[in-house]
Amino acid sequence: MADRDDPFGANDPPARRGSLVIVGTGIRTVGQMTTEAVAWIKRADTVLYLVGDPIAEGAIRSLNPEGARSLADTYVADKDRTDAYGGMVDRILACLRAGDLTCAAFYGHPGVFVSPAHEAIRRARAEGFEARMLPGISAEDCLFADLGVDPGIHGCQSFEATDFVLNRRSVDTSSAVVLWQIGIFGFATHKQGSYALPAMSLLVEKLERIYGPAHAMYLYDAAVLPGCESIIRQIVAADLMSEPLSIAYTLYVPPSRVADPDMDAYNRMVALNAAYKESGEE
Ligand SMILES: C[S@@+](CC[C@H](N)C(=O)[O-])C[C@H]1O[C@@H](n2cnc3c(N)ncnc32)[C@H](O)[C@@H]1O
Repeated sequence: MADRDDPFGANDPPARRGSLVIVGTGIRTVGQMTTEAVAWIKRADTVLYLVGDPIAEGAIRSLNPEGARSLADTYVADKDRTDAYGGMVDRILACLRAGDLTCAAFYGHPGVFVSPAHEAIRRARAEGFEARMLPGISAEDCLFADLGVDPGIHGCQSFEATDFVLNRRSVDTSSAVVLWQIGIFGFATHKQGSYALPAMSLLVEKLERIYGPAHAMYLYDAAVLPGCESIIRQIVAADLMSEPLSIAYTLYVPPSRVADPDMDAYNRMVALNAAYKESGEE
C-alpha cells in the first residue's frame, strides 16, 4: 500500500474505496505542485500520471513508489491522439472499479487541454464513484507571469491553434489571444519529437488577415526544469513557417488596437448606480 501520511489530518475528506482525484503537477513541478496535489499523490492506492519531464516523473514516483504508474505508453506513434485519451480513461476507470483510491496526475492544470481528465471524471460519476479535480498551474499562468501581461487589462481569448483555423474562430483584436498547441498545428496523430507542420501556412494566412504582416507576437516556452529560463521569442506571423517549434510552444498575440468604448452602456451604468444611491438602499 502507498504511504498514507496525510498533512491535512482530520479535516481531509475520508478516503473511500473507488474514488478519483485528478491533480495537476504544474509546468515546473519543482515548486509548482500544490500541497494538496502532493497529499493526494501520497495517499492514493494508485497514481496514474502523464507528465512531460523526468524530474516530474521522479517526484511522483518518490511520493508514491508503490502506486505510481505512467500513462505515457497509451500513446502510439502515428495513431490518433484521441485513441490514447480513450486508453487513459479506461485505465483510470479500471482502478476505480478495483476499489482503489485513484489519483490521476497530469502536467500543468489537469483541466486545461486535457480531455481525458474531464472524461474520466464524467464517466466515474456516471458509474457512481466520487470524483473531483483540483486546479494546477497551467502554461497560460506561467505565460502571464513571464511575459508580464495581465488578462484583466485587455481581456484574453484562448484557442487551440488547429481549432482556431478549422472552426473559423473570430477574434476581438482589442484583447490578447493565446494559441495553444502551435507545435502540432494540423495534426491529430501522435509523433515522437517535433512535427514538420506542412499546413502552417493556413495559420499564418489567418493571423496576417487579422493582424497584418508586421504585428509582433511572442513564442513562449515556459521553463520546466529548475535553474532553466523560459524562452520568449518575438516574431511576426510569417516567422512561424521557419521557426523551429517544439510541441511545448504557445503563441501569445497582443492586442492590435484599443478597445471601442460603449458610451451608451457607460452612461446607463452611471445613471443606474446614481439611482440606486438616491434610493437610499445602500
Ligand atoms: C495538451 S496541452 C496541456 C496543457 C497543460 N495541461 C497546462 O495546463 O498548461 C499542451 C500545450 O500546452 C502548452 N504548453 C505545455 N507546456 C508548455 C510550456 N512549457 N511552455 C509553454 N506552453 C506549454 C503548449 O501550447 C502545448 O502545446
